[in-house]
Amino acid sequence: MNQQPIIVALDFPDANSALNLAKRLRGQPCHLKVGKELFTRSGSQIIEQLQALDFKIFLDLKFHDIPNTVAKAVEAAAAMGVWMVNVHASGGVKMMEAARNALIKFSQPPILIAVTVLTSLNDADLLEIGISSNVETHVQRLALLTKKAGLDGVVCSPKEIKLLRESIGKDFLLVTPGIRPIGSAQNDQQRILTPSQALDLGTNYLVIGRPITAAVDPVIALEEINRSLIS
Ligand code: C5P
Repeated sequence: MNQQPIIVALDFPDANSALNLAKRLRGQPCHLKVGKELFTRSGSQIIEQLQALDFKIFLDLKFHDIPNTVAKAVEAAAAMGVWMVNVHASGGVKMMEAARNALIKFSQPPILIAVTVLTSLNDADLLEIGISSNVETHVQRLALLTKKAGLDGVVCSPKEIKLLRESIGKDFLLVTPGIRPIGSAQNDQQRILTPSQALDLGTNYLVIGRPITAAVDPVIALEEINRSLIS
């Protein structure tokens, strides 16, 4: 098993709240995810501040644009020293290859992954935008294209771990949100698995937000999750 599979989603509206939690989690076995809200409000400074606390950062901005623009954005993320960055697989193979090629010059490039189908979309939503495959088939197609483009892996829902592990093999990272430890609130997540169920099915990283960030004691919540993975 990956020694440090937990990525804590820092879904906060301001830098101070994010930094306060990060200071409490300092030294704990986890990585941190910075998404669109926090990054848009706080700018690249928040990445430097979190890295100064010795965290590895997943910059979750889901780039989706023409190949040149995405390549430059991924390059900018790599220059900030982030550990993981992502793009949308539906930007196409040329876009993903451009992103991958932009990282060649870095001696320690970030892990580059792609989002397949957003978990907020269902079969009817796909049909509406002209995609007649169902969600699972489309996820699988986009994950195979991601692999073909030479990226390191995809973000996937707990429901898709088994399918993708079987169809793409071992040598491909799966990063999975929708994780809920036993006893924690489901919130707005529809399809959930516990951390150990998701790892047993073959995911590599677990993205966990509110079960840790909204806990009375986030350090204890994280410790309990880590303990559940080895017992
Ligand atoms: O609080 P919670 O554990 O639900 O947070 C999950 C995190 O993973 C959030 O940052 C959310 O935006 C992200 N995410 C998700 N589902 C996806 C992709 C990302 O929940 N399909």
